[in-house]
Amino acid sequence: MYDYKSYKDVDLKGKKILIRVDINSNIDTSGYTPKIRGESPRIKAIIPTLMELKDSAIVLMAHQGRPGGKDFTSLDIHTEQIRKKIDRPVKFVDDIFGPKAVQAIKDLKIGEILVLDNIRKWDTENKSFKDFAEAEETEMVQVLSPLFDYFIEDGFGVAHRAQPSIVGFKTLLAGPLIVKEFEYMAKIIEKPEKPVAMLIGGAKAIGKYKAMKYNFENDRLDYALCSGLTAILIMEAIGMNMGTKNKDIISKDLEANKDDIISTYNKFKDKIILPKDLVIKENGGTKNISTEEAGKYNTITGDIGPKTVKEFSDIIVKCKTIIANGPPGIFEDEVFRDGTKAMVKAMAEASLQNNALTVIGGGEMGLAAEMFGYGDKVSFISTGGGAMLELLSGKEVPLVKAFREKKP
Ligand code: 3PG
Repeated sequence: MYDYKSYKDVDLKGKKILIRVDINSNIDTSGYTPKIRGESPRIKAIIPTLMELKDSAIVLMAHQGRPGGKDFTSLDIHTEQIRKKIDRPVKFVDDIFGPKAVQAIKDLKIGEILVLDNIRKWDTENKSFKDFAEAEETEMVQVLSPLFDYFIEDGFGVAHRAQPSIVGFKTLLAGPLIVKEFEYMAKIIEKPEKPVAMLIGGAKAIGKYKAMKYNFENDRLDYALCSGLTAILIMEAIGMNMGTKNKDIISKDLEANKDDIISTYNKFKDKIILPKDLVIKENGGTKNISTEEAGKYNTITGDIGPKTVKEFSDIIVKCKTIIANGPPGIFEDEVFRDGTKAMVKAMAEASLQNNALTVIGGGEMGLAAEMFGYGDKVSFISTGGGAMLELLSGKEVPLVKAFREKKP
């Protein structure tokens, strides 16, 4: 399904390699210094790559957040987490391709790992390069290219970005994590065993709606269990009042896609399962409300309610393929955890009792699965959020194209 040359096709022993990974993590910015919230699933996911390539000198390139965002931090905190999991020297340099970084790369020995600073601190990285040749001409690529024997792309989570660190190097090999991610993507995209359910939650509502629509139209989906902003988007489109506080967050997408959402809903309404009840904060505590009451309370919805949890769980345990992208609740807040916890539990049960293929996508839902103790009880936690959605929507993402065109 995907055309690439992998790290297994060359001899990497004794070589210096640059690996683009995605360790973008959930950052707790409430304290004096930013911290990675819990054990980052994306950091956990790159450890097998680092173990497998132990006979090479490895330089890691990655991003955290976007410029201007609260979670736009340096990668020293990520290095700290990697160091705890790897029994080899793991260094950090607060530079990307300046003299400090170049010297650190030159000094790096076989068996050692060096983490460069947040690649998005370099402005050009934040641009999209449809023309890969143009990305090859950028300063970072020009400076770093002569310093390495091979370039490995292992950041599945950024496969949908045409940024220089992803599509700019002249040749590209797929890394261990990407190879595994592609295997699971092929399983859920090519011929998923039915019935298939998609559990949709969290933010990025329109991308999730489009993935849902594509899969319904291609007869690959039996149930879309909608929560989070995607549910709000659909419910507002079909005339339900979710309150201005919820509506404001999705209003742009709603305006641009309302007719399309209504027609998709009318076509597949038996398969689109919307929340029956929700959880909100009230008077210092929480309150379960019916979905119809959301307009009256006009506050941000924090989670799905118990009736919805039951309905979603009952569907999940009878399906053979379950794909989750985005948590149903704002689980970072202790009072809004129940829905998300119940969903990862139901997925684990589906795998255990029904031998279902359960795949979780997106950093947030992966973190939730780990946090609630179900990380190793589902089939696979993908590191891709938006990337997975684009592949699920039938798109050819930039990295897939780059792998095909840039085989060494
Ligand atoms: C993600 O979190 O989905 C990836 O790290 C990509 O991040 P981005 O949407 O900021 O490019």
